Amino acid sequence: MDIPAWFETQPYYQTRHGAAFLGDSLALMQRIPDNAVNLVMTSPPFALKRKKEYGNVHAKEYVEWFLPFAEQMKRIVTDDGSIVIDIGGTWIKGQPTRSLYHFRLVIALVEELGLHLAQEFYWYNPAKLPSPAEWVTVRRIRVKDAVNTVWWLSKSPFPKATNRNVLKPYSESMKALLKNGYRAQKRPSGHDISDNFSQDHGGAIPPNLIELANTDSNSGYLQECRAQNIKPHPARFPHGLPEFFIKFLTDPGDLVIDPFAGSVVTGDVCDTLDRRWLAFEIQEDYLQASKFRFPELSGSPQQLPLPNTR
Ligand SMILES: C[S@@+](CC[C@H](N)C(=O)[O-])C[C@H]1O[C@@H](n2cnc3c(N)ncnc32)[C@H](O)[C@@H]1O
Repeated sequence: MDIPAWFETQPYYQTRHGAAFLGDSLALMQRIPDNAVNLVMTSPPFALKRKKEYGNVHAKEYVEWFLPFAEQMKRIVTDDGSIVIDIGGTWIKGQPTRSLYHFRLVIALVEELGLHLAQEFYWYNPAKLPSPAEWVTVRRIRVKDAVNTVWWLSKSPFPKATNRNVLKPYSESMKALLKNGYRAQKRPSGHDISDNFSQDHGGAIPPNLIELANTDSNSGYLQECRAQNIKPHPARFPHGLPEFFIKFLTDPGDLVIDPFAGSVVTGDVCDTLDRRWLAFEIQEDYLQASKFRFPELSGSPQQLPLPNTR
């Protein structure tokens, strides 16, 4: 991708449709003009009880830490743009009860920053390991925490979106119903199910519960990390998560950014879906390894062709 002229910084690397930058996304977002980005698709560091290797912020300070990033996100998205934030919950230290930090965050984003909560989503990862062991597997007084909240926020109440782009295959019973026909009748709930119900719309409208196991064990990225003895990023998106929101909320050619890019899954998905993208990551080792996602990039950053800046 040609780096937009307004982005006066050299990328760490660039691909067909995007570019990854090393640095603090708070400073990097300041280089983006107002209303330039169609979608912010990201997963910031969560406030975790046990710190991950890339340094997580404590739940108590989380909202205060995140708001300056969110102000930039709001400024740079288009009026019909969206901000999608995947954020996991956490436990209060030493007791089997939950922190409210991710709820406090969404309330602050709406009530203090003036964003709209277009819809809340839940990403259910059936492969999540039971944790914390003390409450779940030792004392057995809590169950496995297997969902992340995904806050879909927008600048206006009517962000660009079409669920026609994310239809799911019909269930077997729906397929049979479409084949054999449906007699219009009232449901016990009182809902009037019209003949419209028996029309084939090309697939089922998906719910706001997204089931995706994060079980990738053999992608090119992981193979190359193993081959080069590099530790893979510990909190990667499954491709299906950004894919869902990118298809749902953007068109080909739109600009998507991920300000907490990690192993650059968002950029990888954008390249496949013909969306332009910018990824920002503060840790060089993550960005270095993320190049494995793009077969056209091999060798060290110094060997890459010079970026196409002004
Ligand atoms: C939850 S991970 C994102 C993982 C990513 N979604 C993926 O699929 O690989 C959050 C990332 O944000 C990065 N990060 C934290 N603070 C940052 C900042 N101020 N600017 C840029 N990146 C930051 C961390 O190094 C970490 O890699």
